Amino acid sequence: MTVPQITLNDGRTIQQLGFGVFKVDPAETERIVSEALEIGYRHLDTAAVYGNEEGVGRAIAASGIPRDELFVTTKLWNTEQGADTTPPALAASLDRLGLDHVDLYLIHWPRPDLDRYVQTWQAFEQLRAEGLTRSIGVSNFHRPHLQRLFDETGTVPAVNQIELHPAFAQRELRAFGESHGIRTEAWGPLGQGKYDLFGEAAVAGAAAAHGVTPAQVVIRWHLQQGIILFPKSASRERIAANFDVFGFELSDAEIAAIDALDRGLRVGADPEAAVF
Ligand SMILES: NC(=O)c1ccc[n+]([C@@H]2O[C@H](COP(=O)([O-])OP(=O)(O)OC[C@H]3O[C@@H](n4cnc5c(N)ncnc54)[C@H](OP(=O)(O)O)[C@@H]3O)[C@@H](O)[C@H]2O)c1
Repeated sequence: MTVPQITLNDGRTIQQLGFGVFKVDPAETERIVSEALEIGYRHLDTAAVYGNEEGVGRAIAASGIPRDELFVTTKLWNTEQGADTTPPALAASLDRLGLDHVDLYLIHWPRPDLDRYVQTWQAFEQLRAEGLTRSIGVSNFHRPHLQRLFDETGTVPAVNQIELHPAFAQRELRAFGESHGIRTEAWGPLGQGKYDLFGEAAVAGAAAAHGVTPAQVVIRWHLQQGIILFPKSASRERIAANFDVFGFELSDAEIAAIDALDRGLRVGADPEAAVF
Protein backbone atom coordinates (compact mmCIF):
# COMPACT_ATOMS: atom_id res chain seq x y z
CA MET A 1 0.00 0.00 0.00
CA THR A 2 1.60 3.28 -1.10
CA VAL A 3 0.65 6.43 0.76
CA PRO A 4 1.06 9.55 -1.38
CA GLN A 5 3.85 11.91 -0.38
CA ILE A 6 3.18 15.64 -0.32
CA THR A 7 6.03 18.10 -0.84
CA LEU A 8 6.16 20.99 1.62
CA ASN A 9 7.35 24.54 0.85
CA ASP A 10 10.73 23.76 2.44
CA GLY A 11 11.33 20.86 0.06
CA ARG A 12 10.65 18.13 2.61
CA THR A 13 7.99 15.48 2.10
CA ILE A 14 5.21 14.21 4.35
CA GLN A 15 3.02 11.14 4.04
CA GLN A 16 -0.48 12.37 3.27
CA LEU A 17 -2.19 9.84 5.56
CA GLY A 18 -1.01 9.40 9.14
CA PHE A 19 -2.18 8.44 12.60
CA GLY A 20 -3.28 10.97 15.25
CA VAL A 21 -3.22 10.31 18.98
CA PHE A 22 -5.43 13.02 20.53
CA LYS A 23 -7.34 11.38 23.40
CA VAL A 24 -5.36 8.17 23.15
CA ASP A 25 -4.92 7.12 26.78
CA PRO A 26 -1.23 7.52 27.76
CA ALA A 27 -1.35 4.05 29.32
CA GLU A 28 -2.50 2.56 25.99
CA THR A 29 -0.47 4.72 23.63
CA GLU A 30 2.55 2.46 23.16
CA ARG A 31 0.34 -0.51 22.26
CA ILE A 32 -1.97 1.47 19.97
CA VAL A 33 0.84 3.29 18.13
CA SER A 34 2.71 -0.02 17.78
CA GLU A 35 -0.39 -1.44 16.09
CA ALA A 36 -0.59 1.55 13.76
CA LEU A 37 3.09 1.11 12.81
CA GLU A 38 2.54 -2.64 12.20
CA ILE A 39 -0.39 -1.81 9.94
CA GLY A 40 1.88 0.48 7.94
CA TYR A 41 1.40 4.04 9.18
CA ARG A 42 4.65 6.04 9.16
CA HIS A 43 3.35 9.53 9.98
CA LEU A 44 2.39 10.17 13.62
CA ASP A 45 0.72 13.30 14.99
CA THR A 46 0.97 14.02 18.73
CA ALA A 47 1.29 17.10 20.97
CA ALA A 48 2.82 17.96 24.33
CA VAL A 49 -0.64 18.59 25.75
CA TYR A 50 -1.90 15.10 24.81
CA GLY A 51 0.29 13.69 27.58
CA ASN A 52 1.24 10.67 25.46
CA GLU A 53 4.54 11.59 23.81
CA GLU A 54 6.36 8.99 25.95
CA GLY A 55 4.12 6.22 24.64
CA VAL A 56 4.62 7.37 21.06
CA GLY A 57 8.38 7.36 21.64
CA ARG A 58 8.36 3.88 23.17
CA ALA A 59 6.40 2.51 20.21
CA ILE A 60 8.85 4.10 17.77
CA ALA A 61 11.84 2.67 19.64
CA ALA A 62 10.29 -0.79 19.85
CA SER A 63 9.34 -0.83 16.16
CA GLY A 64 12.91 -0.86 14.86
CA ILE A 65 11.71 1.22 11.89
CA PRO A 66 14.55 3.43 10.61
CA ARG A 67 14.08 6.99 11.81
CA ASP A 68 14.17 8.42 8.32
CA GLU A 69 11.14 6.35 7.32
CA LEU A 70 9.03 8.00 10.03
CA PHE A 71 7.45 11.44 10.11
CA VAL A 72 6.76 12.65 13.65
CA THR A 73 4.86 15.83 14.47
CA THR A 74 4.43 17.38 17.88
CA LYS A 75 3.07 20.73 19.05
CA LEU A 76 3.98 23.54 21.42
CA TRP A 77 1.33 24.10 24.06
CA ASN A 78 -0.10 27.59 24.60
CA THR A 79 1.45 28.21 28.01
CA GLU A 80 4.94 27.66 26.54
CA GLN A 81 4.63 30.30 23.80
CA GLY A 82 7.43 32.89 23.88
CA ALA A 83 11.05 33.42 22.85
CA ASP A 84 12.53 31.93 26.04
CA THR A 85 9.98 29.21 26.79
CA THR A 86 9.75 27.63 23.32
CA PRO A 87 13.24 26.01 23.08
CA PRO A 88 12.96 24.18 26.44
CA ALA A 89 9.45 23.04 25.51
CA LEU A 90 10.74 21.36 22.34
CA ALA A 91 13.67 19.91 24.28
CA ALA A 92 11.21 18.39 26.77
CA SER A 93 9.06 16.95 23.96
CA LEU A 94 12.15 15.41 22.31
CA ASP A 95 13.16 13.93 25.64
CA ARG A 96 9.71 12.37 26.11
CA LEU A 97 9.71 11.08 22.52
CA GLY A 98 13.26 9.76 22.83
CA LEU A 99 14.19 11.51 19.57
CA ASP A 100 16.89 13.98 18.60
CA HIS A 101 14.58 15.82 16.22
CA VAL A 102 10.96 15.90 15.13
CA ASP A 103 9.94 16.21 11.50
CA LEU A 104 7.37 18.93 12.13
CA TYR A 105 6.83 21.25 15.08
CA LEU A 106 3.60 23.25 15.27
CA ILE A 107 2.36 26.21 17.30
CA HIS A 108 -0.77 24.47 18.62
CA TRP A 109 -3.06 27.53 18.80
CA PRO A 110 -2.45 31.19 17.89
CA ARG A 111 -3.85 32.51 21.18
CA PRO A 112 -4.11 36.05 19.77
CA ASP A 113 -5.01 37.30 23.25
CA LEU A 114 -1.47 36.42 24.43
CA ASP A 115 0.11 38.13 21.41
CA ARG A 116 3.18 35.92 21.54
CA TYR A 117 2.87 33.88 18.36
CA VAL A 118 5.22 36.11 16.32
CA GLN A 119 8.10 35.80 18.79
CA THR A 120 7.27 32.11 19.15
CA TRP A 121 7.53 31.72 15.38
CA GLN A 122 10.95 33.40 15.39
CA ALA A 123 12.04 30.86 18.01
CA PHE A 124 10.68 28.11 15.72
CA GLU A 125 12.85 29.44 12.86
CA GLN A 126 15.87 29.11 15.14
CA LEU A 127 14.93 25.58 16.25
CA ARG A 128 14.69 24.55 12.63
CA ALA A 129 18.10 26.11 11.88
CA GLU A 130 19.51 24.02 14.76
CA GLY A 131 18.05 20.83 13.26
CA LEU A 132 15.80 20.08 16.23
CA THR A 133 12.82 20.09 13.90
CA ARG A 134 13.01 19.59 10.14
CA SER A 135 9.91 21.62 9.28
CA ILE A 136 7.87 24.22 11.14
CA GLY A 137 4.21 25.02 10.93
CA VAL A 138 1.16 26.29 12.75
CA SER A 139 -2.22 25.02 13.84
CA ASN A 140 -5.58 26.73 14.14
CA PHE A 141 -4.25 29.92 12.53
CA HIS A 142 -6.74 32.19 10.77
CA ARG A 143 -5.91 34.46 7.88
CA PRO A 144 -4.89 37.52 9.99
CA HIS A 145 -2.56 35.38 12.12
CA LEU A 146 -0.90 33.97 8.99
CA GLN A 147 -0.68 37.44 7.47
CA ARG A 148 1.21 38.71 10.53
CA LEU A 149 3.76 35.93 10.17
CA PHE A 150 4.22 36.84 6.49
CA ASP A 151 4.63 40.53 7.36
CA GLU A 152 6.83 40.25 10.43
CA THR A 153 8.97 37.12 9.97
CA GLY A 154 11.02 35.43 7.26
CA THR A 155 9.42 32.00 6.98
CA VAL A 156 6.08 30.88 5.60
CA PRO A 157 4.69 27.95 7.65
CA ALA A 158 4.94 24.58 5.92
CA VAL A 159 1.46 23.59 7.09
CA ASN A 160 -1.59 24.93 8.89
CA GLN A 161 -3.36 22.16 10.83
CA ILE A 162 -7.03 23.14 11.16
CA GLU A 163 -10.37 21.61 12.05
CA LEU A 164 -11.67 20.27 8.73
CA HIS A 165 -14.39 17.76 7.85
CA PRO A 166 -17.29 17.79 5.37
CA ALA A 167 -19.61 19.97 7.48
CA PHE A 168 -16.72 22.39 8.21
CA ALA A 169 -14.74 22.46 5.00
CA GLN A 170 -12.83 25.74 5.58
CA ARG A 171 -12.61 26.50 1.86
CA GLU A 172 -11.53 30.15 2.21
CA LEU A 173 -8.81 29.48 4.77
CA ARG A 174 -7.51 26.53 2.74
CA ALA A 175 -7.41 28.61 -0.45
CA PHE A 176 -5.63 31.48 1.32
CA GLY A 177 -3.01 29.15 2.81
CA GLU A 178 -2.50 27.23 -0.39
CA SER A 179 -2.07 30.47 -2.38
CA HIS A 180 0.93 31.16 -0.10
CA GLY A 181 2.37 27.63 -0.36
CA ILE A 182 1.02 26.39 2.97
CA ARG A 183 -0.27 22.81 2.97
CA THR A 184 -3.49 22.08 4.83
CA GLU A 185 -3.67 19.40 7.49
CA ALA A 186 -7.13 18.35 8.74
CA TRP A 187 -7.79 17.70 12.39
CA GLY A 188 -11.05 16.05 13.35
CA PRO A 189 -11.24 14.71 9.77
CA LEU A 190 -14.13 12.40 10.76
CA GLY A 191 -15.85 15.21 12.66
CA GLN A 192 -14.59 13.59 15.88
CA GLY A 193 -17.76 11.47 15.81
CA LYS A 194 -19.69 14.52 17.05
CA TYR A 195 -22.38 14.58 14.35
CA ASP A 196 -23.94 11.96 12.13
CA LEU A 197 -21.51 12.37 9.24
CA PHE A 198 -21.58 8.66 8.40
CA GLY A 199 -25.38 8.69 8.16
CA GLU A 200 -25.42 11.47 5.53
CA ALA A 201 -26.82 10.15 2.25
CA ALA A 202 -23.84 11.51 0.28
CA VAL A 203 -21.42 9.55 2.47
CA ALA A 204 -23.48 6.41 3.07
CA GLY A 205 -24.45 6.25 -0.62
CA ALA A 206 -20.85 6.44 -1.83
CA ALA A 207 -19.86 3.83 0.76
CA ALA A 208 -22.53 1.44 -0.53
CA ALA A 209 -21.57 2.12 -4.16
CA HIS A 210 -17.90 1.28 -3.54
CA GLY A 211 -18.42 -1.48 -0.96
CA VAL A 212 -16.44 0.42 1.69
CA THR A 213 -17.24 2.06 5.03
CA PRO A 214 -18.46 5.66 5.45
CA ALA A 215 -15.22 6.51 7.29
CA GLN A 216 -13.21 5.30 4.29
CA VAL A 217 -15.31 7.54 2.02
CA VAL A 218 -14.63 10.58 4.21
CA ILE A 219 -10.90 9.80 4.26
CA ARG A 220 -10.92 9.60 0.44
CA TRP A 221 -12.78 12.93 0.27
CA HIS A 222 -9.82 14.51 2.10
CA LEU A 223 -7.12 12.64 0.16
CA GLN A 224 -8.56 13.47 -3.26
CA GLN A 225 -8.46 17.18 -2.38
CA GLY A 226 -4.77 17.08 -1.41
CA ILE A 227 -5.47 17.45 2.31
CA ILE A 228 -3.09 15.81 4.79
CA LEU A 229 -4.92 13.87 7.53
CA PHE A 230 -4.32 11.49 10.44
CA PRO A 231 -7.57 10.06 11.78
CA LYS A 232 -7.46 8.70 15.31
CA SER A 233 -8.83 5.39 16.46
CA ALA A 234 -8.18 3.23 19.49
CA SER A 235 -9.51 0.11 17.71
CA ARG A 236 -7.08 -2.02 15.71
CA GLU A 237 -9.80 -2.88 13.22
CA ARG A 238 -10.65 0.78 12.57
CA ILE A 239 -6.95 1.80 12.51
CA ALA A 240 -6.46 -0.78 9.74
CA ALA A 241 -9.64 0.19 7.86
CA ASN A 242 -8.72 3.89 7.94
CA PHE A 243 -5.43 3.01 6.20
CA ASP A 244 -7.05 0.74 3.61
CA VAL A 245 -8.27 3.54 1.37
CA PHE A 246 -6.16 3.23 -1.76
CA GLY A 247 -8.23 0.65 -3.62
CA PHE A 248 -11.09 2.89 -4.77
CA GLU A 249 -11.69 6.43 -5.95
CA LEU A 250 -14.63 8.79 -5.46
CA SER A 251 -16.12 10.29 -8.61
CA ASP A 252 -16.32 14.06 -9.08
CA ALA A 253 -20.08 13.82 -8.47
CA GLU A 254 -19.54 11.94 -5.20
CA ILE A 255 -16.99 14.54 -4.06
CA ALA A 256 -19.41 17.35 -4.99
CA ALA A 257 -22.25 15.71 -3.03
CA ILE A 258 -20.03 15.53 0.06
CA ASP A 259 -18.86 19.12 -0.54
CA ALA A 260 -22.52 20.14 -0.28
CA LEU A 261 -22.57 19.04 3.38
CA ASP A 262 -20.50 22.11 4.34
CA ARG A 263 -22.51 24.22 6.77
CA GLY A 264 -19.89 25.87 8.97
CA LEU A 265 -20.36 23.29 11.71
CA ARG A 266 -17.41 23.67 14.07
CA VAL A 267 -17.08 20.78 16.53
CA GLY A 268 -13.97 22.02 18.36
CA ALA A 269 -12.80 25.28 19.93
CA ASP A 270 -12.81 28.59 18.06
CA PRO A 271 -9.19 29.77 17.70
CA GLU A 272 -10.26 33.39 18.26
CA ALA A 273 -12.05 32.60 21.50
CA ALA A 274 -9.81 29.88 22.87
CA VAL A 275 -8.68 30.70 26.38
CA PHE A 276 -7.24 27.43 27.58
N1 LIG B 1 -4.23 20.86 16.22
C1 LIG B 1 -5.31 20.68 16.96
O1 LIG B 1 -5.79 21.60 17.63
C2 LIG B 1 -5.95 19.33 16.97
C3 LIG B 1 -7.20 19.16 17.60
C4 LIG B 1 -7.77 17.89 17.57
C5 LIG B 1 -7.12 16.83 16.94
N2 LIG B 1 -5.89 17.03 16.38
C6 LIG B 1 -5.15 15.92 15.69
O2 LIG B 1 -5.99 15.37 14.67
C7 LIG B 1 -6.13 13.95 14.90
C8 LIG B 1 -7.47 13.48 14.38
O3 LIG B 1 -8.54 14.21 14.95
P1 LIG B 1 -9.45 13.67 16.14
O4 LIG B 1 -8.78 12.52 16.78
O5 LIG B 1 -9.80 14.82 17.01
O6 LIG B 1 -10.80 13.24 15.44
P2 LIG B 1 -11.22 12.24 14.25
O7 LIG B 1 -10.03 11.52 13.75
O8 LIG B 1 -12.08 13.01 13.33
O9 LIG B 1 -12.22 11.26 14.99
C9 LIG B 1 -11.83 10.35 15.96
C10 LIG B 1 -13.11 9.66 16.42
O10 LIG B 1 -13.64 8.90 15.33
C11 LIG B 1 -13.76 7.53 15.71
N3 LIG B 1 -13.36 6.71 14.55
C12 LIG B 1 -12.13 6.60 14.02
N4 LIG B 1 -12.13 5.78 12.95
C13 LIG B 1 -13.40 5.37 12.80
C14 LIG B 1 -14.04 4.51 11.88
N5 LIG B 1 -13.36 3.93 10.90
N6 LIG B 1 -15.36 4.30 12.00
C15 LIG B 1 -16.05 4.88 13.01
N7 LIG B 1 -15.52 5.72 13.92
C16 LIG B 1 -14.19 5.96 13.81
C17 LIG B 1 -12.83 7.34 16.88
O11 LIG B 1 -13.34 6.37 17.77
P3 LIG B 1 -12.49 5.04 18.16
O12 LIG B 1 -11.20 5.51 18.75
O13 LIG B 1 -13.39 4.36 19.14
O14 LIG B 1 -12.31 4.28 16.88
C18 LIG B 1 -12.87 8.72 17.56
O15 LIG B 1 -13.99 8.82 18.42
C19 LIG B 1 -5.98 13.85 16.42
O16 LIG B 1 -5.79 12.53 16.87
C20 LIG B 1 -4.80 14.77 16.63
O17 LIG B 1 -3.58 14.13 16.25
C21 LIG B 1 -5.30 18.26 16.39
